[in-house]
Amino acid sequence: MFINHLKPNTQIYMKWILSACIAIVFGAFIVSMKNSPPQDIQLKTGVFKTGDDASWSSGTFNDAAWGKIDPSKNWEQQGYDNYDGIAWYRFKVTIPSSIKNDAAWKDSLNFSLGQIANSDETYLNGTLIGKTGTFPARGAAPVRGRNTGNVIRNYRIASNNNAILWDKENVLAIRVYNSRGNGGLSSIPVISMLGRITGVKIAYTQNPFVFKDKSISKTITLQNTFATSVAGVLSIKAVNDDNKVVFSSTDAVTLGAMDKKSYNLFFDNSSRTVVEYKFVENGTNNNLTVTETNPYILTPAVGPMPRINGAKIFGIRPGSPFIFKIPATGKLPLTYAVQNLPKGLAVNAQTGVISGVAPAKGEYKMYFIVKNALGQAKREFTVKAGNLLALTPPMGWDSWNAWGLTVSDEKVRSSTNSLLKYGLQNHGWTYMNIDDGWEAPKRADNGEIVPNEKFPDMAGLGEYLHKNGLKFGIYSSPGPTTCGGYLASYQHEAQDAASYAKWGIDYLKYDLCSYRTIMAGDTTLAGAQKPYFVMRDQLVKQNRDIVYSLCQYGGKDVWTWGRKVNGNLWRTTGDINDSWGSLFNIGFVQQEKTTPYTAPGSWNDPDMLIIGYVGWGNQHNTRLTPDEQYTHISLWSILSAPLLLGCDLSKLDPFTLNLITNDEVIAVDQDPKASPAKRIVKTADYEVWVKDLEDGSKAVGLFNISAATNTININWKALGITGNYNIRDIWRQKNLPKSATGFSSVVPSHGVRLVKISKI
Ligand code: GLA
Repeated sequence: MFINHLKPNTQIYMKWILSACIAIVFGAFIVSMKNSPPQDIQLKTGVFKTGDDASWSSGTFNDAAWGKIDPSKNWEQQGYDNYDGIAWYRFKVTIPSSIKNDAAWKDSLNFSLGQIANSDETYLNGTLIGKTGTFPARGAAPVRGRNTGNVIRNYRIASNNNAILWDKENVLAIRVYNSRGNGGLSSIPVISMLGRITGVKIAYTQNPFVFKDKSISKTITLQNTFATSVAGVLSIKAVNDDNKVVFSSTDAVTLGAMDKKSYNLFFDNSSRTVVEYKFVENGTNNNLTVTETNPYILTPAVGPMPRINGAKIFGIRPGSPFIFKIPATGKLPLTYAVQNLPKGLAVNAQTGVISGVAPAKGEYKMYFIVKNALGQAKREFTVKAGNLLALTPPMGWDSWNAWGLTVSDEKVRSSTNSLLKYGLQNHGWTYMNIDDGWEAPKRADNGEIVPNEKFPDMAGLGEYLHKNGLKFGIYSSPGPTTCGGYLASYQHEAQDAASYAKWGIDYLKYDLCSYRTIMAGDTTLAGAQKPYFVMRDQLVKQNRDIVYSLCQYGGKDVWTWGRKVNGNLWRTTGDINDSWGSLFNIGFVQQEKTTPYTAPGSWNDPDMLIIGYVGWGNQHNTRLTPDEQYTHISLWSILSAPLLLGCDLSKLDPFTLNLITNDEVIAVDQDPKASPAKRIVKTADYEVWVKDLEDGSKAVGLFNISAATNTININWKALGITGNYNIRDIWRQKNLPKSATGFSSVVPSHGVRLVKISKI
């Protein structure tokens, strides 16, 4: 305790004062103090500077010239677009000794900083009080340490630590390092004393919901993380959108030191339901409350009748190898046929894979016919043999968000097998892309790139994918090394493009990374384009089509020139991660300027999907709520974004499957018109985005970006239309009442209502 560290005579004096104070407090204030929660000090604004200097940790450094920062948002959302490197936050705060009054334990002070992307060192008045993650040595190249962005920072120091200036101004300085994606703090730092309830945790995200028929269940754990006991009542209550309580339980519980207790809950999963877990501590009535939404399923089960899904057009260069799997669902077995199939192509009647050699330049219309015992489906399909590839946004899987640098042949095959097992290819999912981490440290003596020990047979892997009607993607950088430090294509572009063709590669993601050192400060447009032209010139020489994915994080407004270097898609921002902040910034804030450049074969890429079991090698269930995940897929579809799954496909649950097998939603993404998305309403609470579809209808997304439920209205006038319209809920695949004026819907926080409206 703090008084033990003072000189002996001061100790006696202090103890006397303390007991006198306690007597006064107990006598006079006990009633009014009893139920008040421990005082928290919130640091709502700070100052910020990019760069690095050891003196910025100090309490006395003059930061008057620094810019203001809101710590609840990453720095990318506040004008530091795509900044990678070290930056500092400084917060000035008076810590009143009165915050000890209501604290159960007065010997520690807690600094809750939330999640920080990616590494931090935290100082109080110049003294280091906590550190998570790694930093590059001063002036050295970036380090790629473990991703600690998700780790919640709670730094605790003793109340008698000399670094604390009680009742005076303190400076909390946080040095942050981030090397990709959004950087910095994402919540308001809070300073508090420890109450009994501080030690209580409700662990509800660790165990996901388990699906059984139409219901779900899960186990949560109440934990006491302190070495003293705590008593209270835990209540669990699940209420669905019709205000019906579908599960409730209460338990009066005492947890001994470091004790825990588990609770099971289960309920019918047929409607959206909010579950509240609340622990009320007996002594103070302070409570800890957390809520979560169930993974509610909107996509109806696939019907037994044959149905043809996915893209309606396909671009290929004349003479290139042709592979296209007809995506179709229905009761098995299905048989496939094609009317007017161009010469040189053949369809496998059992698998639906069309293969052969692409016809001469021209447009070829044909019909797909898919049959089963119950009937048949027939749909028009167009092959455009010419210069343009990827006439609809590429759909598939990429290893990065799932496996990071630990990707291997085995993991690609296991994800491929799951994709096939779940029938994702029947909804249009096609590309299986190896991201960073496949290259050996040295080229062969003749200069050819060699895969590392994790990829024993690249050509064999390609064959396996093609045999199943799937396509094969790979990753490199125009620089000497990739972002992950593996060997890349600099000055070996011709050899690498030839190796890719030899292995049967259909897609290349070309990631700027270390080429920035070659650019050596060249900030011209020509400088930004150069490496992409160099690889373009090699790719076009190959006797197969390789979709060209540019990854340079949106530099020099790549959307305005990506097509010029033959790019089919281009990343528009830094890296995404599985948080609402990242999704919101990339999807809602950064895309509007890029959408006018959307066209068949030219796609803005807001980065890969962050649903399912993700983790960049550090696996976990996505941290997005179910509503945020519906928003993610809906917005990406309206934006005509490439859809690349970034999760471990061997761990797909029914909820994630529902997100990626809704053919009406996928049809919005794959619409052949490729009409640019438009944001037609933007308020602080909600946004409405619209995309015109080929059949004359419109896909309209009502997105609630606020923290509370909202009613969102859209009238036909705002959409520039008049007259009577059919309205269809695309996720539920149900028609809603038609309207001559507009549409209105209650939308949950961070959720969406996606409808298609078509003239009657
Ligand atoms: C960059 C890219 C990511 C991924 C990694 C691989 O950060 O933006 O998508 O490819 O490199 O190291």
